[in-house]
Amino acid sequence: MLQDRLGRELRDLRISVTDRCNFRCVYCIPEKSYVGLDRSEILRLEEIERLGKIFLRLGVRDVKLTGGEPLVRKGVERLIARLCVIQGLEDLSLTTNGSLLKDHAKPLFKAGLRRLNISLDTLDNERFRAITARGSLESVLDGIFAAKAAGFSPIKLNAVIRKDFNADQIAPIARFGQQHGLEVRFIEFMDTGNGNGWDPSKLLEKHQILEILASAGFSLVSKGRQNTNTPAVSFETLDGSLKLGIIASVSEPFCRVCTRARLTADGKLVTCLFASKGFDLKSVLRSGASDRDVSAAISRVWEGRTDRYSEERLERLRSGESLFGPKEHKLEMVRLGG
Ligand code: GTP
Ligand code: 5AD
Ligand code: SF4
Ligand code: SF4
Repeated sequence: MLQDRLGRELRDLRISVTDRCNFRCVYCIPEKSYVGLDRSEILRLEEIERLGKIFLRLGVRDVKLTGGEPLVRKGVERLIARLCVIQGLEDLSLTTNGSLLKDHAKPLFKAGLRRLNISLDTLDNERFRAITARGSLESVLDGIFAAKAAGFSPIKLNAVIRKDFNADQIAPIARFGQQHGLEVRFIEFMDTGNGNGWDPSKLLEKHQILEILASAGFSLVSKGRQNTNTPAVSFETLDGSLKLGIIASVSEPFCRVCTRARLTADGKLVTCLFASKGFDLKSVLRSGASDRDVSAAISRVWEGRTDRYSEERLERLRSGESLFGPKEHKLEMVRLGG
């Protein structure tokens, strides 16, 4: 099993299948100068499949498809069908904004996908439009119900919480999850990319989210992390009617258990969500390299890895040091795959 410089194994792979998205969420929106990738730069489905096989041979067990919005990529169902049958794969999932699920839910299920994470930051129409700029709440709710009807389980709802935007939506979203048998995860707003305007005053920390839930009448029992390497800390109501997770990347970083590599839509291997650059695997692929050469290149990158951005961020926050000193330009989330 490959290990990085901090002893972390390579276990998970997040694949961004496109850097395009039909939404422009306030917390994700790239800086104004962000230019989308040219089609020729995007990995072809066959290239993703080949890399998937190589990563699985190197020890990866869990694969997540993301974007941008993965469902705007043509052929995503075909890709899923091909990935599903690769030996060694234990878990395949997809994270989506849900807006295109109404039409895609059945084909995705048919292709072999069984679980989905869907973004839902508010249940208020106007606020939804303000957060996503281009989205409609109705399309996402239709998508969620279509996914449920198609048989997906579990379906996890992802709510990014920004203090000034949707703190009042925490209880309604939790109730929605409870009512419809969907897992709900609250995510601390993070300083991803370069243009999302993050500052600590917009952060609602995990303990504050739990306080809001407690005052709304939810009696939650802590269940810890379901797997040692998952970002979410799990909770459940006493009667088991709601499963809930909190992803506290800012207040309780989990870098020590981060076993996640990322493949960008243009074939860069990235070892941290907050990285400023990646290793150009696509060039290696397209230069005619053998699987063994590609595998050796991935191993070298992982074995040299020292990333622990969120831990360093917390150290800086605690010591009152500026987070925004002369800092490297981060890769944008739409290209990185969350
Ligand atoms: P599951 O496999 O279903 O548990 O998904 P997940 O929670 O790992 O991924 P998802 O795509 O649903 O992302 C949920 C949130 O976790 C998003 O805000 C991601 O940016 C964040 N996230 C996922 N992986 C990491 C990570 O390695 N580091 C940090 N800091 N955040 C992460
Ligand atoms: N902070 C926290 N989560 C974010 N996401 C996107 N941008 C941010 C951010 N700045 C979430 C999306 C989606 C997942 C892939 O990442 O809401 O659920
Ligand atoms: Fe929103 Fe996800 Fe699109 Fe970013 S990639 S704008 S978070 S829907
Ligand atoms: Fe992993 Fe980087 Fe997230 Fe830390 S900040 S958990 S190293 S992706």
